[in-house]
Order: sequence, then structure tokens, then C-alpha cells
Amino acid sequence: MSYETVLVAKEGRVGVITLNRPQALNALSTKMVSELISALDAFEKDEEVRAVVIAGNDRAFSAGADIKEMADMTAVQMVMGEHFFPLWDKVGHYPKPTVGAITSFALGGGLELAMSLDILVASETAQLGQPEINIGVIPGGGGTQRLTRAVGKSKAMEMILSDRRLGAEEAKTLGLVSRVVPKEACVEEAKKVAAEIATKSPVAVKLAKMAVNKAFEMGLSDGLDFERELFYMLFASEDAKEGMHAFMEKRKPDFKGK
Ligand code: CAA
Repeated sequence: MSYETVLVAKEGRVGVITLNRPQALNALSTKMVSELISALDAFEKDEEVRAVVIAGNDRAFSAGADIKEMADMTAVQMVMGEHFFPLWDKVGHYPKPTVGAITSFALGGGLELAMSLDILVASETAQLGQPEINIGVIPGGGGTQRLTRAVGKSKAMEMILSDRRLGAEEAKTLGLVSRVVPKEACVEEAKKVAAEIATKSPVAVKLAKMAVNKAFEMGLSDGLDFERELFYMLFASEDAKEGMHAFMEKRKPDFKGK
């Protein structure tokens, strides 16, 4: 399938989606959102793909929702239209592991997209922020919730109320991104992280991701019970037997996702 606003490639077991509207700093237009969703759908169905990278380009990861497209929309069009909301739902519930390469600006809906991914690698020059307040609105793709959980109330308030932006190192210190690398290495580093995950059991990876995500939604005691149930369940997988036997036989496991 060919796309206009995203580039799609498969590198071994890793699916790579590169946002590609450099002239608009990868602003999330309706077209880009629908192409991104369809590329994600294709990788979800593709059994060869075990992890997905979403990368920005040199100029931006994404500068957020396309303001030019959004400017004259009515509230009813927002409620009834497709626009960008399905993207965050899609990424937030994606069953395969996702890694973001924050090559440069991740602002507004761009940061919200990034925060819906599982692991973030940022370039040293990346800027992360929620500047919606400057245009008279607030984050609409989960920013007030995900950012607050990630960085705490005071920092989130400052970012959302005054457009205070985070540099990459500060974002790492706060736990919002997991690694910071030179700009030219950012996409490759994200692919490396994804490729490493792709060597693990897809069954265990899927359940591990579910369990970590539940930590944001459940109390500790329910979360621990949930984790325990998934742990028991994994003993029904061939991959768990393969992993443990490979360890004892001092060889690399060959995980089949069964
Ligand atoms: N929507 C549409 N176009 C955008 C855009 C956006 N979010 N961000 C940048 N662009 C366009 C600019 O209009 C410009 O296009 P033209 O050359 O045709 O004028 C081009 O991208 C390059 O941008 P700049 O010239 O502004 O580049 P810069 O380096 O001087 O500044 C920037 C970079 C600080 C990121 C600045 O572009 C900016 O502030 N962008 C808007 C960021 C923003 O407010 N994002 C939130 C959007 S709302 C949202 O996301 C809602 C939500 O939560 C759902």
C-alpha cells in the first residue's frame, strides 16, 4: 500500500513508520492520522512484525494537531468527525510493542502521540511540550492525564498552563523518555530497542505490556493480582517452555509466539 504522509518499511521483525510532512513539521492532519492508523493496522495483522517504531524526521517528531485544518472546525465537527482522536485510541490500545523516535519537536498532539507509545528514545535536541494554551485550547489527546502521571502535577501544570517545554535530558530525568542520544542516532537507536524486544517471546511481551499499562489504571493490590494471573497463564505457552529449556541447555531460545 502506498501512502502520502508516512513512509512505511519492514526491517526484519520491526515495522517502521516515519512521519513525513516535513514542510508542516509533521502536523497531524486528517490524512496523516488515517494513514498512520492504516499502517499500524497492517503491522498489527502482519505476523512477521513483532515491534513497531514510529519515527519523526529531522525537523520534527510532530508539532501536534494540524492547526490550519482545525482552525475553522466547529465543536460538532469535532464530536462527529473522524479527525485525530481515533489515532490516540489506536496507539493507546495497540497490542504490539511500540517505540517512538523523538527526533525533534514533540508538541501538543505530537507529545500526546509519543506518550501513547511504550518506549521513547529522544534526540539531544528534542523539545517536548503542550503548547495548546497559546492557541486558546487545552490538550485533547490525553496530555492532561498522561503527562501528569508521567511527570507529576507541578511540572505538568507548568507545561500545560504556560507552555514550559522540556529538553530531552530533563524529560529523561523525569522518566518521560527512556534514552537520549545524538540526533543522527535517534531513529537507529529506537530501531535497536524495537529489534531487541522482537527477539523475545511475543506472548510474554504482549502480556507484559498489558500488565505495565494496568499499573496506571488499577490499585496496587488489584494490579498485583492481575500480574499474577498473567504470570500463571504464561505457563501454558510453548514460548515459556522453550525459554526455560533454552536457558538450561545453554542455547538461544527460538520463540514462536505460541
Ligand atoms: N499545525 C499546522 N502547521 C504547523 C504546525 C501545526 N501544529 N506546526 C508547524 N506548522 C507549520 C508552520 O505553519 C509552518 O508552515 P509555513 O511554512 O507554511 O508557514 C511550518 O510548519 C514550519 O513551522 P514554523 O515556521 O513555525 O517553524 P519554527 O521552527 O519557527 O517553529 C514550532 C517551530 C515552535 C514548532 C512552531 O511551528 C509551533 O509553535 N507550532 C505549533 C505547535 C502547537 O501549537 N502545537 C499544538 C497544536 S494543537 C494540538 O495538538 C491539540 C491537541 O492536543 C489535540
